[in-house]
Amino acid sequence: MATFREQLTARRNQKHSKDHPFFNKWAAGELTKEQTALYCQQHFHFVGEYLNWMAYQASQIPHRDVKTYLFENLGDEENPDDRHLDMLKDYVVSAGLPRESVDASPVLVGTEGLQNWGWRMMYQKPWQATLAGMFIGLESQFLDICKKLVPALHKHYGYKPGQREIRFFEEHIGADEIHAGKGFAIVEKYCNTPELQEIAFKTVEEATVRRWRYMNSIYWYALHGKLDDTPEG
Ligand SMILES: [Fe+2]
Repeated sequence: MATFREQLTARRNQKHSKDHPFFNKWAAGELTKEQTALYCQQHFHFVGEYLNWMAYQASQIPHRDVKTYLFENLGDEENPDDRHLDMLKDYVVSAGLPRESVDASPVLVGTEGLQNWGWRMMYQKPWQATLAGMFIGLESQFLDICKKLVPALHKHYGYKPGQREIRFFEEHIGADEIHAGKGFAIVEKYCNTPELQEIAFKTVEEATVRRWRYMNSIYWYALHGKLDDTPEG
């Protein structure tokens, strides 16, 4: 019988965004730098809300260890000396797009779907399952995504290991390994009834589906310039 953690991981892996065609192309060096930057613009819109979700949950959950973890994670993200979202903008600039293009970029339909579903998760799910959706369904995916992209950034896109412009991707391998470990531990501790565990599984699956659709929107926009899926002709 698989452990709760193994089952959470299996649910996530059924539709892990690391397997999305957009990342397959990126890993193979088949995207232009500009196309990879368009991904980063949407990641900015997604993560901006993710940080708000962490702050919201920290305000709602009474347990000190959970609050501490959320503030610690948020503190890393919002480090005034090197905010993570600024690291992302540095990559976009290195790919040839203006820094301001990140804030000014359109919020694609899949990104908006992910943002809005995330806010519904905040208000409509038990917080224990919400944390599973956030930490395992969403955040833990980025670690595997970076493990796939970093070798490609070195091999196909001309960045050197440790180069400042790609630290967003390189540093998330270390930071997210720690975050993912602590996130899993908190979810295991507080999803402590069969009912909560069942809602946690469902929430992780829902998160992966929303994140996959977000990737679909990015694919059509970055590769074909499509803002939505209006049929042709
Ligand atoms: Fe981050």
